[in-house]
Amino acid sequence: MTAPVRVTAPAKVNLHLEVLGLRSDGFHELAMVMQSIDLSDELCCENTADGTLSLSCDVPDLSCGDDNLILRAARLLRERSGFNELGAQIHLSKRIPIGAGLAGGSSDGAAALVALNHLWGLGFEVSQIERLAADLGSDMPFCVSGGTQLCFGRGEQLEPLQPLEAQLGLVLVKDPRVSVSTPWAYGECRRQRGDHYLIDEASFEQRRQLLRDASWLCPIGGEVLPLRNDLQEVVAPQTPSVQMALECLQALPGQLQSAMSGSGPSCFALFPDRTGADRALQHLEAELQGLGLCGWSCSLIPHGVKLMA
Ligand code: C5P
Repeated sequence: MTAPVRVTAPAKVNLHLEVLGLRSDGFHELAMVMQSIDLSDELCCENTADGTLSLSCDVPDLSCGDDNLILRAARLLRERSGFNELGAQIHLSKRIPIGAGLAGGSSDGAAALVALNHLWGLGFEVSQIERLAADLGSDMPFCVSGGTQLCFGRGEQLEPLQPLEAQLGLVLVKDPRVSVSTPWAYGECRRQRGDHYLIDEASFEQRRQLLRDASWLCPIGGEVLPLRNDLQEVVAPQTPSVQMALECLQALPGQLQSAMSGSGPSCFALFPDRTGADRALQHLEAELQGLGLCGWSCSLIPHGVKLMA
């Protein structure tokens, strides 16, 4: 029996989420900058002798059935390896809020691919793991290596960037009673903005190039990032808790920028450093409690899934 393999699975926020248009496969063509943060789940994977795959979790409201991305990832990896007798018992320690726009489920799935590749000694390269991840979800390939990356296509075409200034801090706010369906958010976006979508590859590529060239990716003298999330415009007006979270964050002393992450409902504000974010969260705690919102203070991190010692 080999020793259990433990990995961390960090959440992400979208520093930029631009909806360019509609693809022939029905997905949206996107231009994004994704950023890993130090709010992480943990997976522990152990071999089983009988070839079964099973999942347990420390929160009751998450399905540990066959629909969970962790088990879907495990089955896909085993199938592609050709070793159908491989089995694993996987335990998930959940810290990232569920249905939050933070890619918690995607990061868990990516973590399962990385951990089981190691546990089973399969030797798949990172690029092969990312391709498997793309078969399971649009945000999943980013979660494998994480850090700061441009994500194009439906999110799976990755172009890594220099890590952003590491000392930036972030306050994250989410209503634990609310989650937003990603298909709904994109459906609403199409309904409201579809007439203005770009329609050809040359126009998509022009926007991608603008993002590659954007100087805001490297903050100079405290001037940071015009954050952008096109889904915020369609989700916020119909989701009071998003409006509430944004209002709280925008009123915080010292915040640089705030925005919704992914399809919501989490929202975040950037601060010049982690201490500023810690202080701001302290300042906000009573107000958040009154509104029934949860808050976290986080740092940006330059990596995705990581094996633990
Ligand atoms: O790939 P993922 O399972 O995360 O996507 C969930 C849903 O979000 C898709 O079924 C689709 O409705 C929408 N989506 C989209 N365009 C993308 C990513 C997701 O329309 N680029």
